This record gives sequence, structure tokens and C-alpha cells, in this order.
Amino acid sequence: MTRLVVIGAGLIGARHIATVRANPECRLVAVVEPDGDRAARLGVPVYSRIEDVREAADGAIVASPTPMHPDHVRAAAALGWAVLIEKPAAASLGEAEALIATLQAARVPALVGYHRRHHRSVAVLRDILASGRIGRPVLASLIWAVKKPDAYFQGNWRSGGGGSPVMINLVHDIDLMRHLFGEVVEVAALGGAPVRGAARMESGAVALSFAGGVSATIAFADTTPGPWGFEAGTGENPNIARSGQDMLWIAGTAGAVSFPSLTVWTGASDWSQAPECQRESAPDTDPLAAQLRHFLDVIAGRADPLVDVEDARRTLAVALRIEADVARARAAA
Ligand SMILES: NC(=O)c1ccc[n+]([C@@H]2O[C@H](COP(=O)([O-])OP(=O)(O)OC[C@H]3O[C@@H](n4cnc5c(N)ncnc54)[C@H](O)[C@@H]3O)[C@@H](O)[C@H]2O)c1
Repeated sequence: MTRLVVIGAGLIGARHIATVRANPECRLVAVVEPDGDRAARLGVPVYSRIEDVREAADGAIVASPTPMHPDHVRAAAALGWAVLIEKPAAASLGEAEALIATLQAARVPALVGYHRRHHRSVAVLRDILASGRIGRPVLASLIWAVKKPDAYFQGNWRSGGGGSPVMINLVHDIDLMRHLFGEVVEVAALGGAPVRGAARMESGAVALSFAGGVSATIAFADTTPGPWGFEAGTGENPNIARSGQDMLWIAGTAGAVSFPSLTVWTGASDWSQAPECQRESAPDTDPLAAQLRHFLDVIAGRADPLVDVEDARRTLAVALRIEADVARARAAA
């Protein structure tokens, strides 16, 4: 029975707590949460500081605000706990590099919470690309369009720049694309805050170039109740309504595929022929449950982390390039 602590019982921390409780292979031994309202009625010992936790544990899920991750990972590693760190692991490249050094020195394994990689439908998409059915991928286009409620930004760490959808949400899309296409070699981005007018970005467009030759775009906004986005398309998040609509389109030298419907277009040799389409399928996944099972394997030494901090650092580097591009353009305007 693996003993776990959850650090931060907010939006995602509450879901981790429920996920840990639903898995018979592990036990929630404590929660670290300084907010009394959130700490109430959890049914396990709750502490304000990691250093005060008295229960023995094997691992911790770090679900506190991103700027606190470095301190919290250091404290957990000092206690010898393996860590599952919510994305984007850290807020800067320097912090991510320091985290890598801390974890190596403490000899504790660390997994970063890019949970989309645990979806069966993502594995099927990767299999379609690897099979060569659509030839060599050359372009991809992704849309992430949601409307976040105003309360999401009020009176918390997301009210300033920390609430940028690039650092909170687009990092998932960047990680997904890196998982599918390999490393990003060029980034260009535009963006702004035309609706709420806050200091943080709220919508924009990104162009990415991958080492393998794929060119991709991401259009994103957290100000529109659109049906297109990973969470809406897959129905993975109980807080985001399911639309079942596609949100990622990939074209290759011999065909195309869209996701999450896994609609594959093949059979046309050039523009004179109409491609035929087929649907593949994949069962729905509870990605946090699948990620937790993987974390338990990592703690037990049965698996290497699917996403380690170095991997997450590369996604963070792309996200920070997008933030910097947009900040430069807005300063010049
Ligand atoms: N994987 C995902 O899909 C996903 C979804 C949402 C958030 N996240 C990530 O999870 C992290 C938390 O985001 P959130 O939206 O849940 O934020 P949140 O504000 O809802 O929750 C953070 C919690 O941490 C608590 N906290 C504050 N100081 C603390 C401390 N010193 N020790 C322990 N807990 C403390 C807060 O009281 C709050 O309850 C962020 O890094 C975010 O990017 C990931």
C-alpha cells in the first residue's frame, strides 16, 4: 500500500485527492493545505506546512500554485518522497533546472503531470502516425477555445500574469504536440487581452516548427465558450462540458487524421482524388487515474517517469518563448 500526501487541495488537488482515494493500491495519509475552508472535512490529517507532516509517506502530489512548486518539491524531496508535480513544474527555466539538480541530489523520482499522455486515444493517435497510414506528417492545427468563469481569476494567484492560459493550459497542448511530433525548433506568437483587458494574455495564435519537419499552429482563447479544445473534445475534465468535437487536425504526405474522433483520411494520391475516411476508436480514459497508476509504478521502481522534469522543461521553454514574443509585441504596440 503506497502512502501519499497531496499538497494543495484546490481545483486540481481536490481531483487528485478523489483519485488517490479511488485507487486501492494507495492510501491518502495527509493533505497540506493552509486554507481552512478547503482543509475542512477531508477526513485525513491536514497541515499548513509540509515540514509539519508527521505521517510517513512514499510520495507526494504537488498541486499548489505554480510559483510554489520549487519550494514544495524541495521540501518533499528532503523527506525522501517521490513527487508528481503538477504542470508546468516551475515558472521559469532557472527554477526548472534547479529542480532537476535538487531531485538528482535527493535521489527521488519525479513525474510531471502532463496527464494527456495517459489517454488511450492519444496512444491510438500516435499509433496511426507511426503506422505511416497518413504518410509523413507535415502540418497540424490545434484549437483551444474555452470561457473561464470570472471567479477563476478573482482573489488568487491567477489574477496576475500567473493566470495566462499559455502557462496553465497551452503547456498541455505544447506537450501533446511534442509527444506526437518531437522537439520544437522555431516559435512565433501573437496575442493579447482584447476582452478582459487584464495584464495577462487571454487569446492568441502560435506557429511552431518541429525538428522532424512538421509545421503547426495553435489558436487559443479563454474568453469564448467554444466547443473546440482537448477537454471539451475528450470529456476528460468534470468541470468542462463535453462537446465531442475535434480540436486537432494533422495532415501527412498520404492522408490526414483528426482528433479526438480519430477520423483517418487516406487513399488520395494528389488533389484530383477525394480521400476516403475511416473512424478508429479508443475507450475513454480517466487520465488522472491512469497517471496515478503510473506514479505508483514509478515509486515502486517498476517504470521510469513518462514525463520527467527535463522533458517538462522543454515544454516550458516553448511556453516562455510564446509569452516573451507576445510581451515584446504588446510593448512595441
Ligand atoms: N493537470 C491539469 O489539468 C491541471 C489543472 C489545473 C491546475 N493544474 C496545475 O496545478 C497547480 C494548482 O492549480 P489549481 O488550479 O488547482 O490552483 P488552486 O488555486 O485552485 O489550488 C491551489 C491550492 O494550493 C493551496 N496552497 C496555497 N499555499 C499553499 C502552501 N504553502 N502549501 C500547500 N498548499 C497551498 C491553495 O490554498 C489552494 O487550495 C498549478 O500548477 C496548475 O498549473 C493542473
